[in-house]
Amino acid sequence: MSIKPLIILPDPVLRQVSKPVERVDADLNKLADDMLETMYDAPGIGLAAIQIGVPRRLLVIDLAKEGESPEPHVFINPEILESADQRSVYEEGCLSIPDYYAEVERPASVRVKYLDRDGKLQEMQAEGLMATCLQHEIDHLNGVLFIDHISKLKRDMVVRKFKKLAKDKAPGKMVG
Ligand code: NI
Repeated sequence: MSIKPLIILPDPVLRQVSKPVERVDADLNKLADDMLETMYDAPGIGLAAIQIGVPRRLLVIDLAKEGESPEPHVFINPEILESADQRSVYEEGCLSIPDYYAEVERPASVRVKYLDRDGKLQEMQAEGLMATCLQHEIDHLNGVLFIDHISKLKRDMVVRKFKKLAKDKAPGKMVG
């Protein structure tokens, strides 16, 4: 297993639409393990493959709290089958947009189908934080970020801030 570098806003890679996973094999499982390790290291509770630069429809989630035993979930080619009319609001953050948080309203529960790491078709009725996290991560597979769900004013502000940060970090720039 290895920790991979995270893709950070405003990298256009984050706007790519990921392609379906065609084969659930040892390589795919190794990628899932690398993603889990990268996510635990960050630390975060969810990570999509595109966030480490792999445009495949694969995501990992672990909602276990600190001090609890890990509960890794791997979702391959996840698809939302049904969303509740009822909404809920969570303060969301993203490993690709470090240290920025904003309230996002989404359906309070979703029914999702996906392949597990054995390639077996599964369905999950997700509520609460799992529902929010799954929607956030599935958005990543479609090139959508949680800041796309907030006001344009706030989004423009955060994008501008990250563009400036990226520019300041650009190679060739001497900072004494
Ligand atoms: Ni994210």
